[in-house]
Amino acid sequence: MNTHATLRNAINADFAPASLPDRAATYALDAARSIGRLALRRVKRTADVVNSEYNLSHWQRMLSAKAWTTAASVGDFLIPKNPELGLRKVDNRICRIAADDYYRYRAKALGELLARHAGGAKEIVELGAGYGYNLLALHLNHPDWTLRGFDIAPNGVAAGREIAAHYGLSDRISFDRIDLTDGNDPSYAAIRDKVVFTYFCIEQIPYDVRKVVDNIIAARPKRVINIEPTTELLDLSNPRDIVSFLYIRSVDYQTQLFSTLNDYERQGRVRILARERMPFAPTIHNDGFLYCWEPT
Ligand SMILES: C[S@@+](CC[C@H](N)C(=O)[O-])C[C@H]1O[C@@H](n2cnc3c(N)ncnc32)[C@H](O)[C@@H]1O
Repeated sequence: MNTHATLRNAINADFAPASLPDRAATYALDAARSIGRLALRRVKRTADVVNSEYNLSHWQRMLSAKAWTTAASVGDFLIPKNPELGLRKVDNRICRIAADDYYRYRAKALGELLARHAGGAKEIVELGAGYGYNLLALHLNHPDWTLRGFDIAPNGVAAGREIAAHYGLSDRISFDRIDLTDGNDPSYAAIRDKVVFTYFCIEQIPYDVRKVVDNIIAARPKRVINIEPTTELLDLSNPRDIVSFLYIRSVDYQTQLFSTLNDYERQGRVRILARERMPFAPTIHNDGFLYCWEPT
């Protein structure tokens, strides 16, 4: 499969915006689910909950299924055929599109987004990388970049290493363990002077946001790109943002990262270079916001 040609075709495809009744029905259902979760099974997102959702569930299943062993290329592994239609955010519009079309578009869009904010760096670190979905997608678009992923979940790290080895990419994409809440974690040394990003990782650490930002600043990276969902920047006069607000509260994601960074900018501890809202998301709720910043 010619992955690059396929990605180019997909991003040029015309994704039509979903109709108003389609959006209204989907928003109502999503909001009802979140309200149900808030009423019936409110989650407190502790480290144990995160370990059980990611390390012991998602990443353990990945590691057992070994889907990469039956996918001919990294592109086939990341974007398997999946015609399931859903409402997704594409180029800032809510569209009803197939899952595989979305993920093909997303790989390209993520590559462009990070290239725009990385300041020309070709060595990029992801904190909270899981098994490396984002790093593999970045490799498709920037095969000359060297990528390092860190995560607290041993099963994510093990899966990432197996995938990279399977596709002969271990020299380009590597994985190690880190606990971002532990300022003494030896892996923090690896981010010194590097361009680092997080993608829906700090969302999982709602009770230690300030500590994690302090730890990252103390490790002296060159630049940080945080791409995370939040309630802080939502516009609650917009129905879709109300849906996101309910979702984020119902799963207890972080709500302080961007106000913390704004505080730190006022205190002269960081310089914020960019504030954006992500133009893509796989569902109608919970699209990320991006802050790109440097320690001063
Ligand atoms: C929602 S997943 C996102 C994974 C990846 N960024 C992606 O987009 O595919 C959140 C990840 O954050 C990791 N994580 C949670 N708490 C962490 C911590 N204290 N230190 C490092 N990673 C952590 C989880 O193990 C999980 O892999």
